[in-house]
Amino acid sequence: MANIGIIGGSGYTGSELLRLLYMHPEAEVVAVTSRKLEGKKIWKQHPFLRGFYDISFVSPELKNLEGCDVVFTAVPHGKAMQHVPHLLDAGIRVIDLSADYRLKKEVYESVYGLRHEAYRKAVYGLPELHGDEIRRSELVANPGCYPTGCILSAAPLAKAGVIERVVFDSKSGITGAGIKPTEFTHYPNVHEAVVPYRVTDHRHYYEMVQELGGFQPDLKISFTPQVFPGSRGILTNAHIFLREEPDIKKIRRMYEEFYRECYFVRVQDEVRLSWVRGSNFCDIAIFAGEDRVVVSSAIDNLVKGASGQAIQNMNIMLGFDEKTGLDFPPLFP
Ligand SMILES: NC(=O)c1ccc[n+]([C@@H]2O[C@H](COP(=O)([O-])OP(=O)(O)OC[C@H]3O[C@@H](n4cnc5c(N)ncnc54)[C@H](OP(=O)(O)O)[C@@H]3O)[C@@H](O)[C@H]2O)c1
Repeated sequence: MANIGIIGGSGYTGSELLRLLYMHPEAEVVAVTSRKLEGKKIWKQHPFLRGFYDISFVSPELKNLEGCDVVFTAVPHGKAMQHVPHLLDAGIRVIDLSADYRLKKEVYESVYGLRHEAYRKAVYGLPELHGDEIRRSELVANPGCYPTGCILSAAPLAKAGVIERVVFDSKSGITGAGIKPTEFTHYPNVHEAVVPYRVTDHRHYYEMVQELGGFQPDLKISFTPQVFPGSRGILTNAHIFLREEPDIKKIRRMYEEFYRECYFVRVQDEVRLSWVRGSNFCDIAIFAGEDRVVVSSAIDNLVKGASGQAIQNMNIMLGFDEKTGLDFPPLFP
């Protein structure tokens, strides 16, 4: 049994880790941190977990996490770096859900406008692309929610080197913005609306460049995010303009082949957020256009886009089957 710690257990990805890890047969959550709720029972903050956990929040000091085999850092970017090096130095393996270790140091500092005081080399935790490196890693940088669906929708064609340009158009539920209410997430500002934001300059773009550019350095990428008035899910339409005439049957076979060993990627005829809700699946569907191929992907941002993928990474790091604790159907309807 692996002992698990969660730094940032009072937030959305923290509570999703708690929900999913309860069902994991090889993992036991032994320490969950919150600075503002230290000493309070977990279920006081997360009443939906009442009866499943009887432990209380602790402060995020190293001494409270010392017995852990793995710690998840589910905290904002710029904050994970305050904890990760101390955990690694104490011999604890870390899966960071923030952006702090996803990019190269110089790129991170320029994109996030922060000095990275505590940089360590990490593996980008997209298991479908980096499974072997994750297995050997002490520090996994869990991908951003948007990049997960975007990268998976374009990776097979990027690997084949045939993309001229890809335009990612993504729509996310509001939990992507975290638990703290803001003017942006205020109900009257988002309900009955689809709100584009950071239309040409979202920071997740750089993860797409890093990962897809790793396959095909000269491909051009555009990305526009939007929020829709739902809690969970990210739907992406990747408009992929090719260097050659699209042959849809061949492309579909290419995707099926690329993801043959990837349990959590399902090539479907169509995608719906309601077909992946609450689950670790990324569904993909491929459509032929006159001038392009459209690849749609659907994920639950809190599961495959965050905590589920983090547990998939933990499974790989600890030598478990990647499906352990995550092999259940989505919540439909
Ligand atoms: N939400 C998503 O869909 C999603 C998807 C992928 C990745 N992510 C990333 O995952 C991370 C967590 O996201 P989230 O949505 O769970 O955020 P959240 O709901 O805002 O929760 C973050 C938690 O971090 C804790 N925290 C803040 N500063 C801290 C510090 N210096 N030391 C220790 N704990 C600190 C806070 O708890 P206390 O104040 O109680 O200590 C807070 O509850 C972020 O980096 C986010 O970008 C989120």
